[in-house]
Amino acid sequence: MTKQPKFVEWPIWDENDVKMVSDVVKSGKWWCGAPQSQVGENIWKFQQEFSEFLNIKHVFACTNGTHAIEIALMALKIGRGDEVIVSDWTFVASASAVVSVGAVPIFCDIDPETFLLNPDLIENLITERTKAIICVHLGGMPCEMDKILQIAKAHDLKVIEDSAHAHGSSYKGKSVGSWGDCGTFSFQGGKVLNSGEGGAIVCNDDDLADKIYEVLDSGRNSGKWFYDHFSYGSDFRLGELNAALLRTQLKKYPDQLKTRNSNAIYLSKQLQQIPGVHPQKMHEDVNRCARYVFPVYFDPEKFGGIDYIQMYKELEEAGIPTDACYPPLHKLDLFVDVKLLPNVDYGSANWGGAKSNPENFPVVSRIYKNAFELSHRVLLSERESLDYIADTIKSMQKKYAN
Ligand SMILES: Cc1ncc(COP(=O)(O)O)c(C=O)c1O
Repeated sequence: MTKQPKFVEWPIWDENDVKMVSDVVKSGKWWCGAPQSQVGENIWKFQQEFSEFLNIKHVFACTNGTHAIEIALMALKIGRGDEVIVSDWTFVASASAVVSVGAVPIFCDIDPETFLLNPDLIENLITERTKAIICVHLGGMPCEMDKILQIAKAHDLKVIEDSAHAHGSSYKGKSVGSWGDCGTFSFQGGKVLNSGEGGAIVCNDDDLADKIYEVLDSGRNSGKWFYDHFSYGSDFRLGELNAALLRTQLKKYPDQLKTRNSNAIYLSKQLQQIPGVHPQKMHEDVNRCARYVFPVYFDPEKFGGIDYIQMYKELEEAGIPTDACYPPLHKLDLFVDVKLLPNVDYGSANWGGAKSNPENFPVVSRIYKNAFELSHRVLLSERESLDYIADTIKSMQKKYAN
């Protein structure tokens, strides 16, 4: 087998990042005021630059990707008594944001090949209380947005695209985040575009944009007096230091995106040649995939019956950077034990106690037991590092098959 290669470290930074942040420190303008104010400038410039990058009209930077979903729900007037359909295989935030506004998340099982919300299962979950769908572009892989929008339209539902993993992914020629009513992003430290913490909400609709601004800036309206508060909102503003770092990181990002995308295609092809190894499938309508985490399903019988714990152990011993897969939402303690908001009726949920049984979520339960995730760091590494990953898994198969 080839020698253990070096994988890139994350995050990647240089003196431009340092200068940009230190310039903000020296300016004393660490906070950003209202859009027309003279305070700060990096937030407003970053929003403009990210909007051009995504080709989406409105971008609002905010504190993090969890808050971005909360703001989206509040701006779309989703709250107590409402149900929101959420993919079952995602980070807790996609559903905890729903809880935070007093609504009830309803978990939808995934497609066995793309690992994304399965559009064919949505209609069965719709009730008269359903108000929205949150689809998650897991690993940067775009969901089948046309199918999801068709269902949403037929049932008058809002669509929020949780694009926390998918900065610049595109489907049928359009950026993710621009398909639904709005999209949300995370700039948390592990993400492909990050400033340690941060998030954004994006949309094309002018009225929704005004509402989003109101929610994220304490009920203020752009152009109005600072101490006028027109409706309930909170303070979800991002600071200038984070925005400055995001601006220099965004300059490096398009090249990284190209590398990630082509390396992911290359690595998928290598892995697909190994019997019983199934990397997340990219369907033909995906033009570009930002590739955050890289989930792979393996048939245990092709590996002598080992489980994911053994698989991770082997990969780690070989020095291959991995990430833990998200446990399916339905089996997280907060949902099984219904430790959520007081005075909210969760009786209609399709999870909690016995309802969180894996048999009610058969696909995600099977995939999760036999899946591993490669870190996105591998996708910025040299091709020989990708060959090393494929070779390691091939040798493992030989070892366990005997
Ligand atoms: C799919 C998904 N949605 C939302 C979030 C929340 O983002 P943040 O950590 O910035 O709050 C994350 C973070 O990992 C995520 O993976």
